[in-house]
Amino acid sequence: MALATRLDRLGTETAFAVSLAAAEWAAQGNRVYPFHLGDINLATPENIVEAMNRAIADGKTGYCPAAGVPALRAALAENIGGDRGMELHPENIVVQTGGKPVITKFVQTLVNPGEGVLFPNPGYPIYESQVEYYGATPLPYRYTETPTGFAIDLDQIRELAPNATALIYNNLQNPLGCESSAEEMQAIADIAIEHDLWVLSDEAYFEMRYAGESVSIASLPGMAERTVILYTFSKKFAMTGWRLGCAAAPLDVAQMIAKINTNDESCTNHFVQEAGVEALRDPSGSDALLTELQVRRDAAAGAIATIPGITCATPDSTFYLFPNVTEAMQLTGFDDVSEFATAALHETGVSFCTRRHFGRPLPGEDQQYIRFAYSGISAPDISEGLGKLGDWIGSTS
Ligand SMILES: Cc1ncc(COP(=O)(O)O)c(C=O)c1O
Repeated sequence: MALATRLDRLGTETAFAVSLAAAEWAAQGNRVYPFHLGDINLATPENIVEAMNRAIADGKTGYCPAAGVPALRAALAENIGGDRGMELHPENIVVQTGGKPVITKFVQTLVNPGEGVLFPNPGYPIYESQVEYYGATPLPYRYTETPTGFAIDLDQIRELAPNATALIYNNLQNPLGCESSAEEMQAIADIAIEHDLWVLSDEAYFEMRYAGESVSIASLPGMAERTVILYTFSKKFAMTGWRLGCAAAPLDVAQMIAKINTNDESCTNHFVQEAGVEALRDPSGSDALLTELQVRRDAAAGAIATIPGITCATPDSTFYLFPNVTEAMQLTGFDDVSEFATAALHETGVSFCTRRHFGRPLPGEDQQYIRFAYSGISAPDISEGLGKLGDWIGSTS
């Protein structure tokens, strides 16, 4: 007996291995500073928790419509459309168990085996996994480092686009923490329109910003009819474990995604959806969350600035920093970034993911990067942990 051969193509989030290594190190009695987690160690706002408890007490515990309960679809259409300056109707919204399922359902609905899909690399690893799993052709596109962060290599996308059916775009990017300039976003939209591409706009971090305003590529002319927005409650409301999100999609696509819901999970928990309605009705709890994350960002950026051999732009959004550690690795005598990460854990307790957790490195990459997530660690611990990292690197140079 054998497992299905398509499983050979299924990827995963290899970052979970970092959690395991950190947990093992902690279990041996060592202090760990967890910068590897994309999770949030802050509580879901009270009004949301209470709404869920009420919904359970009211018996909202049975099956409900596959596309989501009407009140939540209506609230999401108004909220997502309003924040993006787009007209969305409840029929465009298909509720999901988190943002992640939108990725697989986008690929299942809109991409045939053998067709090309452009996706960011470094990027969220589930893009590559799902593209390959469904037999599509992976077309990873690269970023280049700039003085203020990272920029998409538009020439590469232009070169690859004729072979693509779909493009995955993650503005407010994990792991890079970067966002497109208006020109870059328009260029991506122009390419999508010219080559008639479907677009998945992963907007998991749309609301996670400390300055400026988020813009959705779906709101640019000619884009709404070809774009599926991935929306999630996970980050904005510290609801990662609740599993609530949605796809906002053109009507025919939304209907097909709802049909997949019926085949797949039947529906998202009714009581969790009621909590989602409350979150959108009174989102004030997320302000405190953003304030705390900004304190952490500033603590992390401030500490990194003092570490020899590490350089990093300070993003206005997400909760990630993606420092260039090429020189720090030379100072500490490493040429393999995974070995550098293991040594950092053992020498200082600082645990982090590396560039390798976000897609296979592309030809020509000669710089080394790591990712610090500051959503799961307090500001004092950030300063203490990164202080130890700095001392270790400084002591070897
Ligand atoms: C870029 C990106 N997209 C999607 C997701 C999935 O979010 P969710 O937890 O809502 O499924 C994540 C989670 O970290 C993410 O970083």
